[in-house]
Amino acid sequence: MRLLVTGGLGFIGSNFIIKILKETNDFEIVNVDAELFGSNQQNLEGIKDSDRYEFVKGNITNKNLMTELISKCDSVVNFAAESFVDRSINDANPFLVSNIRGAFTLMDITTKQKKRMVQISTDEVFGSLESTTATEESKFNPSSPYAATKAAAELLANSYTKTYDSDIIITRSTNNYGPRQFAEKLIPKTIILAIQNKKIPIYGNGKNIRDWIYVDDHCEAALLCLLKGKSGLSYNISSNNEIDNLTIVTKILEIMNKPNDLIEFVEDRPGHDLRYSMDSSKINKELEWKVGTYEHHDCSSHFKSILLGEMYYNSLKDSAPGKKISEKYIDGFMQNGELKITNKKWVEYNTTTNNNLIRYWEELFTGFLSTKNLKVITK
Ligand code: DAU
Repeated sequence: MRLLVTGGLGFIGSNFIIKILKETNDFEIVNVDAELFGSNQQNLEGIKDSDRYEFVKGNITNKNLMTELISKCDSVVNFAAESFVDRSINDANPFLVSNIRGAFTLMDITTKQKKRMVQISTDEVFGSLESTTATEESKFNPSSPYAATKAAAELLANSYTKTYDSDIIITRSTNNYGPRQFAEKLIPKTIILAIQNKKIPIYGNGKNIRDWIYVDDHCEAALLCLLKGKSGLSYNISSNNEIDNLTIVTKILEIMNKPNDLIEFVEDRPGHDLRYSMDSSKINKELEWKVGTYEHHDCSSHFKSILLGEMYYNSLKDSAPGKKISEKYIDGFMQNGELKITNKKWVEYNTTTNNNLIRYWEELFTGFLSTKNLKVITK
């Protein structure tokens, strides 16, 4: 099967592509990615020369490009999305563009070309559930602009299957963790700050609950939905691993031998959902998917592997001297500037701008790089 994966340079998309290329010979992958905020070419460094992999830089809102790419593929899996709730609160516009307009473009073209599309969605569409668990039939109640855009894309997909008999399948997963996760999200952010003995901000009282799923479990489920899912249906992908934020952060600190007083309770995220919870018995029964087949299902062992440098250090250790490191990958905070490896020990950081974001970036990474015998020179 020739598969178009959108957003394959991001966290979940890159794990999906690596998994498919490693575990089967059945796929050729075309990865289209706009190289926006959370994208990083280094996420796919290991497979970029595979003759079953092709990269195309492009935005899913580009109708002509998508029409051409989809015409050369059998199906599409849409991972491309703006995904960070806090950024959607600051500025929802990019979320509307990628998550609604982009998803619509893909739905429209796959429908016309009679191709299957898997739309990757989220448990956040159901909003905060204090004591209940959402099934596929539960009502939408999104809280953040991000969640609302994902819900909107789902509604659009439903309208397409009803009106045009489109072959669209929706998957909703809970919070993912795993390699290559972008630094803005709770788990990688906690680890990076803790390495440097910096304060870890916990929003509100830390009692908010998320259901954490290892990214490969999610990818396995998404692949099953692509191959065996029923057209027009949605599938919840959850992990029975509901943990509150304070417990997660405390656990990470314990593994890292860091004191709990690094925790700092800060102002709550506006509209912060207390708890997400989904029932995934439908995918368990109908597609025989089971969570936890991957060794990293245990969060603790995963945190340890990150501490060995699996995540961020990878972006540095294989880089040749002189090579620029992707700004977007390294920070998520830096706006202008240039970071490059000058030799295996030095990272050079140039910038003409001097604002709080850059200062934050410097604080965040200088300590981390020094634990790897790398130093930052600021010019
Ligand atoms: O539930 C699935 C969703 O999980 C995905 O649809 C989203 O794309 C993804 O970003 C994630 O959303 P969350 O808002 O749950 O993830 P995040 O890592 O931002 O936050 C996890 C929890 O930790 C949440 O309750 C907010 C809290 N938090 C987060 C950050 C970044 C803090 O207390 N402090 C922080 O600094």
